[in-house]
Amino acid sequence: ERPKPLAGRRIIVTSGPTHEPIDPVRYIANRSSGKQGHAIAAALARLGADVRLVSGPVTIADPTGVDTLHVETAREMRDAVEKLLPADAAVMVAAVADWRTENSAGEKIKKVAGEGPPALQMVENPDILAGVGHHRKRPWLVVGFAAETQSVVENAKAKLGKKGADIIVANDVSPEGGVMGGDRNRVRIVSKAGIEEWPEMGKDEVAERLAGLIAERLQTIEV
Ligand code: C5P
Repeated sequence: ERPKPLAGRRIIVTSGPTHEPIDPVRYIANRSSGKQGHAIAAALARLGADVRLVSGPVTIADPTGVDTLHVETAREMRDAVEKLLPADAAVMVAAVADWRTENSAGEKIKKVAGEGPPALQMVENPDILAGVGHHRKRPWLVVGFAAETQSVVENAKAKLGKKGADIIVANDVSPEGGVMGGDRNRVRIVSKAGIEEWPEMGKDEVAERLAGLIAERLQTIEV
């Protein structure tokens, strides 16, 4: 039997992309396989946590030992997360679409010869991480991700304050890195305490180490 340092802890995890409908057959989305978020949910559960995973549309299986809710849009994800509060920790890994169309069409938008493409009016989606980070039922520990292609650490530092997060896991998702959809990741752990660079490793190992770090941080807080 492995030790269960997270027994009795309730942890919310978001994972995967969100899909924002344009019409019944088309949508806007970020690229996200859900691999890293699902692996984190599974690793937290192995340490004994009561994990609630809110997943956008992915093709991978629900992680074992994790209570998984499936949603499509950012607003559905936000509502699901808010209903799951209070929690001891929240780990927001989902690649939420920043924008959605103001009104999605009820019928498929027809391609009409000579009319050209439709103009999509976009509006901002809610920032789920910032909402949780500034919530009156804020979890003890709030962890976010920063997938960037440039100025990775600077952007992650700025995100700590803006999002009300304790830890930002920064990863470089430049196309040449192969992180997107791949099985490996190289992250930096950015917090008030400073920056910790982790070597490149499998997404499962990143999950394992992050779960360990979360257990350590929560240990200093009374159940
Ligand atoms: O601002 P940016 O999208 O880079 O922030 C990334 C972090 O914020 C991730 O942890 C992501 O899950 C979270 N996020 C969110 N809701 C949004 C946008 C990002 O929860 N609408």
